Amino acid sequence: MNKYSHLRHYGLAVVACGVALALARPLDAPSSCFLLAIIVSGLFGGRGPGLLAVGFSAIAFNFLFLPSPLSISSPSSSYFRFGVFVITALTTNQLIEAKRRIEESRRRIDETLTKTQARLSRATQIATVAEFAASIAHEISQPLSAVVANGQACLQWLSAEQPNLTNARVAAERIIRDGKDAGEVVRHIRALFKKSAPEKVALSVNEVIEEVLSLIHKETVRKRVAIETDLETELPPTLGDRVQLQQVIFNLLLNGIEAMETLANRPKKLHIRSKLQRSDTILVEIRDYGTGLADSEKVFEAFYTTKERGMGMGLSICRSIVEAHGGRLGITPSQGPGTTFFFTLPLVSRLLT
Ligand SMILES: Nc1ncnc2c1ncn2[C@@H]1O[C@H](COP(=O)(O)OP(=O)(O)OP(=O)(O)O)[C@@H](O)[C@H]1O
Ligand SMILES: [Mg+2]
Repeated sequence: MNKYSHLRHYGLAVVACGVALALARPLDAPSSCFLLAIIVSGLFGGRGPGLLAVGFSAIAFNFLFLPSPLSISSPSSSYFRFGVFVITALTTNQLIEAKRRIEESRRRIDETLTKTQARLSRATQIATVAEFAASIAHEISQPLSAVVANGQACLQWLSAEQPNLTNARVAAERIIRDGKDAGEVVRHIRALFKKSAPEKVALSVNEVIEEVLSLIHKETVRKRVAIETDLETELPPTLGDRVQLQQVIFNLLLNGIEAMETLANRPKKLHIRSKLQRSDTILVEIRDYGTGLADSEKVFEAFYTTKERGMGMGLSICRSIVEAHGGRLGITPSQGPGTTFFFTLPLVSRLLT
């Protein structure tokens, strides 16, 4: 706290006591007026200004509101009145101070919680990246091996006694194609994980869904999960951070895939639907045919997880992202097995009006 704000707080105590002094006699309520001044000083100024108000009030009470200022010859009733006033004033100041301390520590706890949550959300992203790192590495290493093989073939065609330019050209073309493939994979990964600051732009939700689906395509093939889409064509744009919305869809799809991991008696299927709900909101639904929710009340709570390696942060992060976009994330009652999550997003037109 700087010097100026210290002065302001002590000034407040002086002003509050002055006002109490001015009102005490007309209202014939010195104790109440001074106690009020002490409360105001302690509440807005802190311990020091509160004690200053107690001191001022005690002096004013002694000189102006007792029948005569305290002296050796004062009756015991005056000592008693003064004593009760001072004890009440000090106790009030202590209580106000205790209240301030409790509020201060609650504020610190809230701050720490917010920071921890931010750190954990980053940790979840990293965990998710780690989970997909193997399949990403696989995706990149395939075109790179092809580039090397085609490069060697190209060299052979060129270094033959009679160079075969046609075959060398075909090999070179393959190198370019595979190089582009690898570049595309890298571009996707960067789009999904690189940015950290939210950047809202007008975007098509269907495009975001398609981008995430293409990123997890290999994974769904590997896990034999069929993807069904029902995306409303000509959906108007919404205003959002592309990477954050990708993260929401990604997390919901991942949860769906994980919920079907142990499924043996029915096909593994994820159904993604987008549509216009009323005239101003986009609705996205993601349905799986997995185990269903163990506890639908708790799933959005941070740290709630039923998975051995889960952090229980996915859905709570999704919910805060969707709400920061002016939408809602929730559960649609499912017909049949599995779980359906939905989220809504406002249209750009609604946000601009
Ligand atoms: N599609 C689903 N089907 C069944 N249960 C689900 C589904 N999605 C979420 N859950 C339940 O909700 C819990 C919380 O999900 P959440 O995504 O927040 O955390 P998590 O998946 O356990 O861990 P992580 O932080 O790695 O995402 C899960 O552990 C699971 O029990
Ligand atoms: Mg999850």
